[in-house]
Amino acid sequence: MASTSRVFTRALRTAAPSVRNAAPRTARFAAPQVFQQARRGYSTGGEEYKEKYPGNPKGMIYGAGALVATAAVYGVYLLNPELFGQQAKPKGPFVPKFEDYQKVYDAVAKRLADEDDYDDGSYGPVLVRLAWHASGTYDALTGTGGSNGATMRFAPEGDHGANAGLKAARDFLEPVKEQFPWITYSDLWILSGVCAIQEMQGPKIPYRPGRTDRDVSFCTPDGRLPDASKDRSHIRAIFGRMGFDDREMVALSGAHALGRCHTDRSGYDGPWTFSPTTLTNDYFKLLLEEKWQWKKWNGPKQYEDVKTKSLMMLPTDMEIIKDKTFRKHAERYAKDNEVFFREFSDAVAKLFELGVPFQTEEKWTFKSSFD
Ligand code: HEM
Repeated sequence: MASTSRVFTRALRTAAPSVRNAAPRTARFAAPQVFQQARRGYSTGGEEYKEKYPGNPKGMIYGAGALVATAAVYGVYLLNPELFGQQAKPKGPFVPKFEDYQKVYDAVAKRLADEDDYDDGSYGPVLVRLAWHASGTYDALTGTGGSNGATMRFAPEGDHGANAGLKAARDFLEPVKEQFPWITYSDLWILSGVCAIQEMQGPKIPYRPGRTDRDVSFCTPDGRLPDASKDRSHIRAIFGRMGFDDREMVALSGAHALGRCHTDRSGYDGPWTFSPTTLTNDYFKLLLEEKWQWKKWNGPKQYEDVKTKSLMMLPTDMEIIKDKTFRKHAERYAKDNEVFFREFSDAVAKLFELGVPFQTEEKWTFKSSFD
């Protein structure tokens, strides 16, 4: 369409003066004139007509030519009113489609690949933690919290101890938000969590948009996210409040195959696995196969592996193999990565949708860099 307009504008510039003169006027005014002329010509009596056009058809030919040219101008006006100084008809609100969200996914994936000078070489783990902490505030009883709202942007929630360090993830996404201003922060954070999991070779996580950003009054109270120093009853209380069962709690904790603890954030230190930027079932394998001991240090109580002393487990991680029911699932996942991926994907998709009043049932699967 743009090139058609360009061709037409150029033709107009080189056209006969009579046509050119008609152009600056908007066709809205030009068109009735044509009709008026035509009507006048038609209603003129036979004698008058002969007087005006004494046997010379030239006038008729010019008239018809002008009519065709004006109709052409009018046609172009209808298609491109902005060429005539008129405002284009509003096209209606922009409704992003799957392809648009895939573009956002691709932009996040590209930034993940480009910005490899962070932590263990990827912002992936901290993006997953951002999406999880945005969602994990959900309270099924009151319907408050959850991934709708992106209220961690505001000081009370952003400053909660559990959210320490997540500014790095939010800042990382800012250029993407600028590039795609139509996406809400809450949809962007969750989409980025999905992207990070897939780009770190994890399973596909179904996604649907529909989250809205809310104001500061929707910030959740402190204490809704888990405390790593606690035991199984705390884990069950926190995840039970969100609506998860034991199996799902264990599947979700497999995310600790990714990333690490930071002394300047949680106070804990070190990674859980030897490959913290690739999602595998290694977290369960290591939990079950390695020997673990309390780390001797001045920091909060945490475990280290006896063999290398380079890996860590939180007290809540260790509950996963101490509790009989939790352990049963940890063993299933350690044995079979596919089973872990399937159940992890289901549980994460559920987590990421907590508290969102979706308008659509349709879920999308984004293409990753590995497809
Ligand atoms: C009992 C439940 C949980 C506890 C107590 C817990 C606790 C923690 C702590 C203390 C850290 C270290 C933060 C830091 O110092 O940077 C951490 C990191 C992380 N957590 Fe959890 N977490 C839990 C569940 C989950 C779940 C359900 C997910 C995702 C589904 C998750 C994903 C992560 C990731 C990816 C990191 C690494 C972040 C990074 O490398 O910057 N966690 N978690």
